[in-house]
Amino acid sequence: MSNQLEKVKELIALREEARLGGGEKAIQKQHERGKYTARERIAQLLDEGSFEEIDMFVRHRCHNFGQEKKSYLGDGVVTGYGTIDGRLVYVFAQDFTVFGGSLSETMAQKICKIMDMAMKMGAPVIGLNDSGGARIQEGINALAGYSEIFQRNILASGVIPQISGILGPCAGGAVYSPALTDFTIMTKGISYMFLTGPKVVKTVTGEDVTQDQLGGAEVHSSKSGVAHFAAADGEETLKIIRKLFSYIPQNNLEEPPLMPCTDPIDRLEDSLNEIIPDSATRPYDMYEVIGAIIDNGEFLEVQRDYAKNIIIGFARFNGQSVGIVANQPKFLAGVLDSNASRKAARFVRFCDAFNIPLVTLVDVPGFLPGTGQEYNGVILHGAKLLYAYGEATVPKVTVTLRKSYGGSHIVMSCKQLRGDMNYAWPTAEIAVMGGAGAVEVLYAREAKEAEDPAAVLKEKEEEYNKLFCNPYNAARYGYIDDVIEPRNTRFRIIRALQQLATKKITNPAKKHGNIPL
Ligand code: HXC
Repeated sequence: MSNQLEKVKELIALREEARLGGGEKAIQKQHERGKYTARERIAQLLDEGSFEEIDMFVRHRCHNFGQEKKSYLGDGVVTGYGTIDGRLVYVFAQDFTVFGGSLSETMAQKICKIMDMAMKMGAPVIGLNDSGGARIQEGINALAGYSEIFQRNILASGVIPQISGILGPCAGGAVYSPALTDFTIMTKGISYMFLTGPKVVKTVTGEDVTQDQLGGAEVHSSKSGVAHFAAADGEETLKIIRKLFSYIPQNNLEEPPLMPCTDPIDRLEDSLNEIIPDSATRPYDMYEVIGAIIDNGEFLEVQRDYAKNIIIGFARFNGQSVGIVANQPKFLAGVLDSNASRKAARFVRFCDAFNIPLVTLVDVPGFLPGTGQEYNGVILHGAKLLYAYGEATVPKVTVTLRKSYGGSHIVMSCKQLRGDMNYAWPTAEIAVMGGAGAVEVLYAREAKEAEDPAAVLKEKEEEYNKLFCNPYNAARYGYIDDVIEPRNTRFRIIRALQQLATKKITNPAKKHGNIPL
């Protein structure tokens, strides 16, 4: 055998070794835990055969605790690039079979390298997290590694999409990299995220709690809002990431992909002409409205189980990707509260950063009153949504279906927050407040002095409703651009979006705004 052939053989053997990560036993253990390996995950995530690995021969440089005797090719993370539906993405996947996927100085350098490449090429970064946190043996060097990653997360924010799949433990400061990215997808049963684990919690607060109760996928997708999706298993986590990419552009200078549309753009939805119940207090399901107007009823909902009084997610109109924000009258009457405001505000800002038009469907009775909300800072949280809509320069189409009262009317993408096309259904009630509340304020004294207070209030309420609780008062001033037949909503939104395709406005030059955090 020639020298060269010998060397090629050696290379092939080294590659084989690297592909085994922490070894066959560790791989078997990973499978027994119900988890795939880093390489298996990458293969499921990317288009078949598209993955190009880099830095396969990196090893750690630690000499503490006998680490020099234990080193693995690749050092616990698989990095590289490939494609999703033919579009370039950069990926890192932590390999739990090597030191529990813990982050070393060199692992951080590998991750930073692909983040830098992604920024240079203007392509998204996907991180598949499965790690015991900072590699304990490396001490401060591991912490410095995390900091390098966070700094890149911050500078990449709003420039390239960043997605985090959580497919195993994610503890300590490690949770901050996912938190700095745009979307976090957790996997039920095998993943958790927390700053301090159950043992520390017990020591500090005396609270007994399991890992799942503290930071499992269910908790973070319904209670904290940290996770945007909770997938049933690892495969579903990766499928969600692929799907998400179909709605978003490669970077902040590009448009989202345009898909062929098989759903007729002028499809009339007669059911929408009868969806609003006669009684103002009876709910209907906003999902039915969304499903009826978007292309093929295909809706990728974000944060489905968190703050259910507002619905956010991606859909398409005539093949064009949009972000939908809609009040849900079926949950807490669609009221805005702190959590709903934060949820929607972050989504609006993502869409605006990545050139995704916003379609807002309004049926909101107001902000939730009370000490619970006020002490929780609803003023600041509501202001976040206000800020996000007011700052957004993407096309904004708003349709008011029923209630749109007071402050919540303003917040939900009203005309004066640079709403481009603001439509209302004939059932819309755009006013300072609902009739019953208004007459209580205006006619309390008259009612008290009258023989039949209820009759006085009822009469005044009818008068108020006739005057204010309709769309025509707002349309009269041009605050509503048109009152539309509900069954035409799909077509009218598509027309509006077509018209707005060349919209160009900019905000005043500044270092950055000061969103009320
Ligand atoms: C080095 C680690 C490690 C770590 C796990 N391992 N975590 N090695 N540094 N942080 C190793 C284990 O020693 C073990 O090695 C292998 O990975 C698999 O771990 P197991 O414990 O056998 O697996 P499992 O039972 O599934 O438990 C997983 C785990 C647990 C829950 C993650 O390992 C654990 O609690 N690890 C420590 C978590 C932690 O406290 N990390 C530091 C957080 S602080 P062998 O050789 O036996 O296979 C932090 C600061 C970051 O991250 C700050 C950033 C700003």
